[in-house]
Amino acid sequence: MELYRNKLSIPFFILSLALLMIGLTFGFIGSVQYLVPDFLKEWISFDKVRPLHVSSVVFWILVTAMGSVITFLQEHIGGSIKYPPLLKAQFWVFAITFLLIIISYFLGIFGGREYWEFHPYFAFPIAFGWLLFIINVFSSIKNFRNQPVYVWMWLTGLVFFLFTYIESNLWQILWFRKEIIHDMTIQWKSYGSLVGSWNMLIYGSSIYLMDKISGNQKYSYSSIAFALYFLGLLNGMFNWGHHIYTLPTHHFVKHIAYIISMTELILIARIIYLWKDSLTTAKMHKHLRSYQFIIAADVWVFITLILAILMSIPALNVYMHGTHVVVAHTMGATIGINTMLLFAYIFDVIKDSTINEKIFKIGYRIIQISLPIFFLSLLSAGIYKGFWQMQEQHLIYGSMLKKLKPAFLLFSSSGFFLVLGFFMIIFIALKSLLFIYSSKNKI
Ligand code: HEM
Repeated sequence: MELYRNKLSIPFFILSLALLMIGLTFGFIGSVQYLVPDFLKEWISFDKVRPLHVSSVVFWILVTAMGSVITFLQEHIGGSIKYPPLLKAQFWVFAITFLLIIISYFLGIFGGREYWEFHPYFAFPIAFGWLLFIINVFSSIKNFRNQPVYVWMWLTGLVFFLFTYIESNLWQILWFRKEIIHDMTIQWKSYGSLVGSWNMLIYGSSIYLMDKISGNQKYSYSSIAFALYFLGLLNGMFNWGHHIYTLPTHHFVKHIAYIISMTELILIARIIYLWKDSLTTAKMHKHLRSYQFIIAADVWVFITLILAILMSIPALNVYMHGTHVVVAHTMGATIGINTMLLFAYIFDVIKDSTINEKIFKIGYRIIQISLPIFFLSLLSAGIYKGFWQMQEQHLIYGSMLKKLKPAFLLFSSSGFFLVLGFFMIIFIALKSLLFIYSSKNKI
């Protein structure tokens, strides 16, 4: 039975790893174009490289989150998801849509907005695929009473995502986009909430996995986990403050948003920290790969938190706005927290005994060493640019960019190693997933 259940979720992980490979490749090309703007320009300019990179990594996050929720939900209910054919339809809707989006970028077809720069028509299959997901998850849960916190996180994250995704597309209606402040507030609010909703899916899966590793349900019914859930819920409603920091809207909205998003990070860091201390060595070793990724995520929660607090100070925010500090913050969170946790889920499906230990160790170390350098290189470029843009008599833009070359060189070279480390891990993961998938077919 477990084999059949896994067979349903493994294609999601295979797809997501393929998307990550595409995303990493374009990220690296983008980083080289920072240094050498003409690099591959004839073939693919930075205007195409950026959306190709950002959309592919966002899809990596979404598809792995889907695969994890499906896997863990089936383990939780002890049976198969209610409608397997619907799940297969969901998979193909996303796989085909994402493939077409990538092709459309190559062809220069855009029309959307930042992070979702693809043609607005693609919003229909994405919303439809997500609706199939919601139907399947809700119908697979027989009884909504007395459910652990992760189930509530999944359910809420699922509904919130659809709601905020529709919200982020409201600009297509003239009434919403005709007034700029109004339009931008909704736009950035919805982006913040979208991140909040996928975080609900990811944090829910983390709590499930942590309880699974520790062999009890200590966290899934704990008050700290429910506090995290309610903060996540508030976060989904009030968004992430810095997204609308520069807009002249009510200050109380920004302040509430900040307090909530910071507290949310503190709580998830605390949950992981306490969990780590409560584990016995035997349990840790039994799930070593997932454990290592969860611990890496915990460190990055702290790093992201410190940067977010600094960015929230108005006197510093004016310097950081529109610089690489923001990119450092976004990539720090999506690589350091989201990607690490998502790998923890993938390696929970792959049993440790099936993987090549040596390649794993080297790949993991390369990632953990190159990521902080990658992050610091972006921070330093951002801080320099921040001072430059605030000076009354500053260097011309071209000269400022020349001064940033050392930081960009570090960014691109550490980025190369980051890609290398991830490719090693992806290679092992894909090999094992394909093996599990094909051996099941023989059953
Ligand atoms: C799991 C891996 C990664 C994730 C999840 C990720 C995520 C992101 C996100 C969300 C953005 C948008 C940032 C913003 O606009 O604020 C971004 C931008 C970018 N990323 Fe990554 N990234 C990853 C790996 C990489 C790597 C390894 C490189 C380089 C080797 C890279 C290079 C870039 C570049 C050049 C940009 C464009 C920044 C700009 O617009 O100036 N990324 N990435």
